[in-house]
Amino acid sequence: MKSISRHKITILSALSLVLTVAATSGVAGGIKSKEGDFSRGAQAWVDNCSRCHNPRDPKEFRDDLWRPIVYHMRVRGGLTGQQTRDILKFLQGSN
Ligand code: HEC
Repeated sequence: MKSISRHKITILSALSLVLTVAATSGVAGGIKSKEGDFSRGAQAWVDNCSRCHNPRDPKEFRDDLWRPIVYHMRVRGGLTGQQTRDILKFLQGSN
């Protein structure tokens, strides 16, 4: 019995090591990035924000107004959370 529980502990610590490494490298590689990214946002803006109407100039609205607008347009356009954050970063960084 003793050797089994020690075996379990070894598996658990190996597993948590793998998870830690995966999480760390994910962030470093930008795979799981949560922060908005300006240049990705610029591309996503071009790709998505002129689908239904003329693209709206970033200078048209202040930072605090872009936030609710982009979240509204996220629903309209079916954007992912990451695309939404990227576009918001781009708009707020360009006005
Ligand atoms: C699926 C179509 C669609 C997509 C994609 C879309 N929009 Fe819109 N947008 C609309 C519609 C419809 C309106 C009219 C207002 C409403 O929805 O009630 C609008 C209105 C707006 C307005 C005017 C809001 C105001 O208060 O004057 C802005 C600014 C805007 N969109 C920006 C964007 C941006 C930025 C994106 C990209 C993230 C985007 N839109 C993507 C359909 C879309």
